[in-house]
Amino acid sequence: MFARTVLTLAFATLATAAGAQEKVLNLYSARHYQTDEALYSNFTKLTGIKINRIEGKEDELMERIRNEGANSPADLLITVDAARLAKAHDLGLFAPVNSSVLNVRIPAHLRTEDWFAFSTRARVIIFNKLSVKRDQVRTYDDLAAPALKGKVCSRSGSHPYNLSLLASIIANQGEAHAEAWARGVVANFARQPKGGDTDQIKAVAAGECQVATANTYYIARMMRSDKPEDRKAIEQIGVVWPNQGTTGTHINVSGAGLLKNAPHREAAVKFLEYLASDDAQRYFADGNNEWPVVEGLKIANPALDTLGSFKADKLPVKDLAQYQAKAQMIYDRAGYK
Ligand SMILES: [Fe+2]
Repeated sequence: MFARTVLTLAFATLATAAGAQEKVLNLYSARHYQTDEALYSNFTKLTGIKINRIEGKEDELMERIRNEGANSPADLLITVDAARLAKAHDLGLFAPVNSSVLNVRIPAHLRTEDWFAFSTRARVIIFNKLSVKRDQVRTYDDLAAPALKGKVCSRSGSHPYNLSLLASIIANQGEAHAEAWARGVVANFARQPKGGDTDQIKAVAAGECQVATANTYYIARMMRSDKPEDRKAIEQIGVVWPNQGTTGTHINVSGAGLLKNAPHREAAVKFLEYLASDDAQRYFADGNNEWPVVEGLKIANPALDTLGSFKADKLPVKDLAQYQAKAQMIYDRAGYK
């Protein structure tokens, strides 16, 4: 399967040389959501531009783009998490894009000069309704309070979702506070960090631990699941929008950027602008249970409706990116493995 994709790409590169300049787009993607298929095929239907997609882990893709250098067939990198997008920026992989469409459609705090967020997800607190009261977990700071000793479970501190959460705490409350917070959370662990967000949700529902953080789309996915046990697990948990009285709930993004050596620049910018269109924005919401970045867009997703509205932290995605390394150092010092 992978080999075939590579062959297709090689062919596409030849086709470019032969002059089929803007009818193909080579997309390197670290977003692995089945529902994205429709997002891509709709673009081809609208523009006639065929998308060749190489999927991989973000680090592998970035390494590959670096190795390919000036000869890289890659036009765009699409991935999740501000930290990863910032890494691609730091490696000098992206080229600036000045598009009035993107500047108008995407709020300023959700774009940089060379990469753009197209959907957002919130990192919320979940708790076991039988053993924890909502008032005990109103803020991220509450996760470090002694009252939750032995109750908190978590995925790894090295995971970008948790790095970005801590980066937001550094940006909002300072480094010393962030370190005290990380140490407080570690002191409250019910078990060593393991598994993904869905595992934390299931552990909280089963009472193996009582409190955790999770990205909203994992919760929405379980709400909409065909499996009765998933929906039953959701009934056991409460969901809190943290920091509503202060900075707002931490959000992260999925996004994309134009690559420096893109052979199909025009098609690539067209695709970025397409991702900000009403149609594409609805795919993010309906398909992967994320929120559109375009403001005021009506979406139809019963799970997101159930979760309701909240005040989001408006910290620029650039700032989130800036504190990643510091966040990792703090987690390491705190023993948040
Ligand atoms: Fe995820």
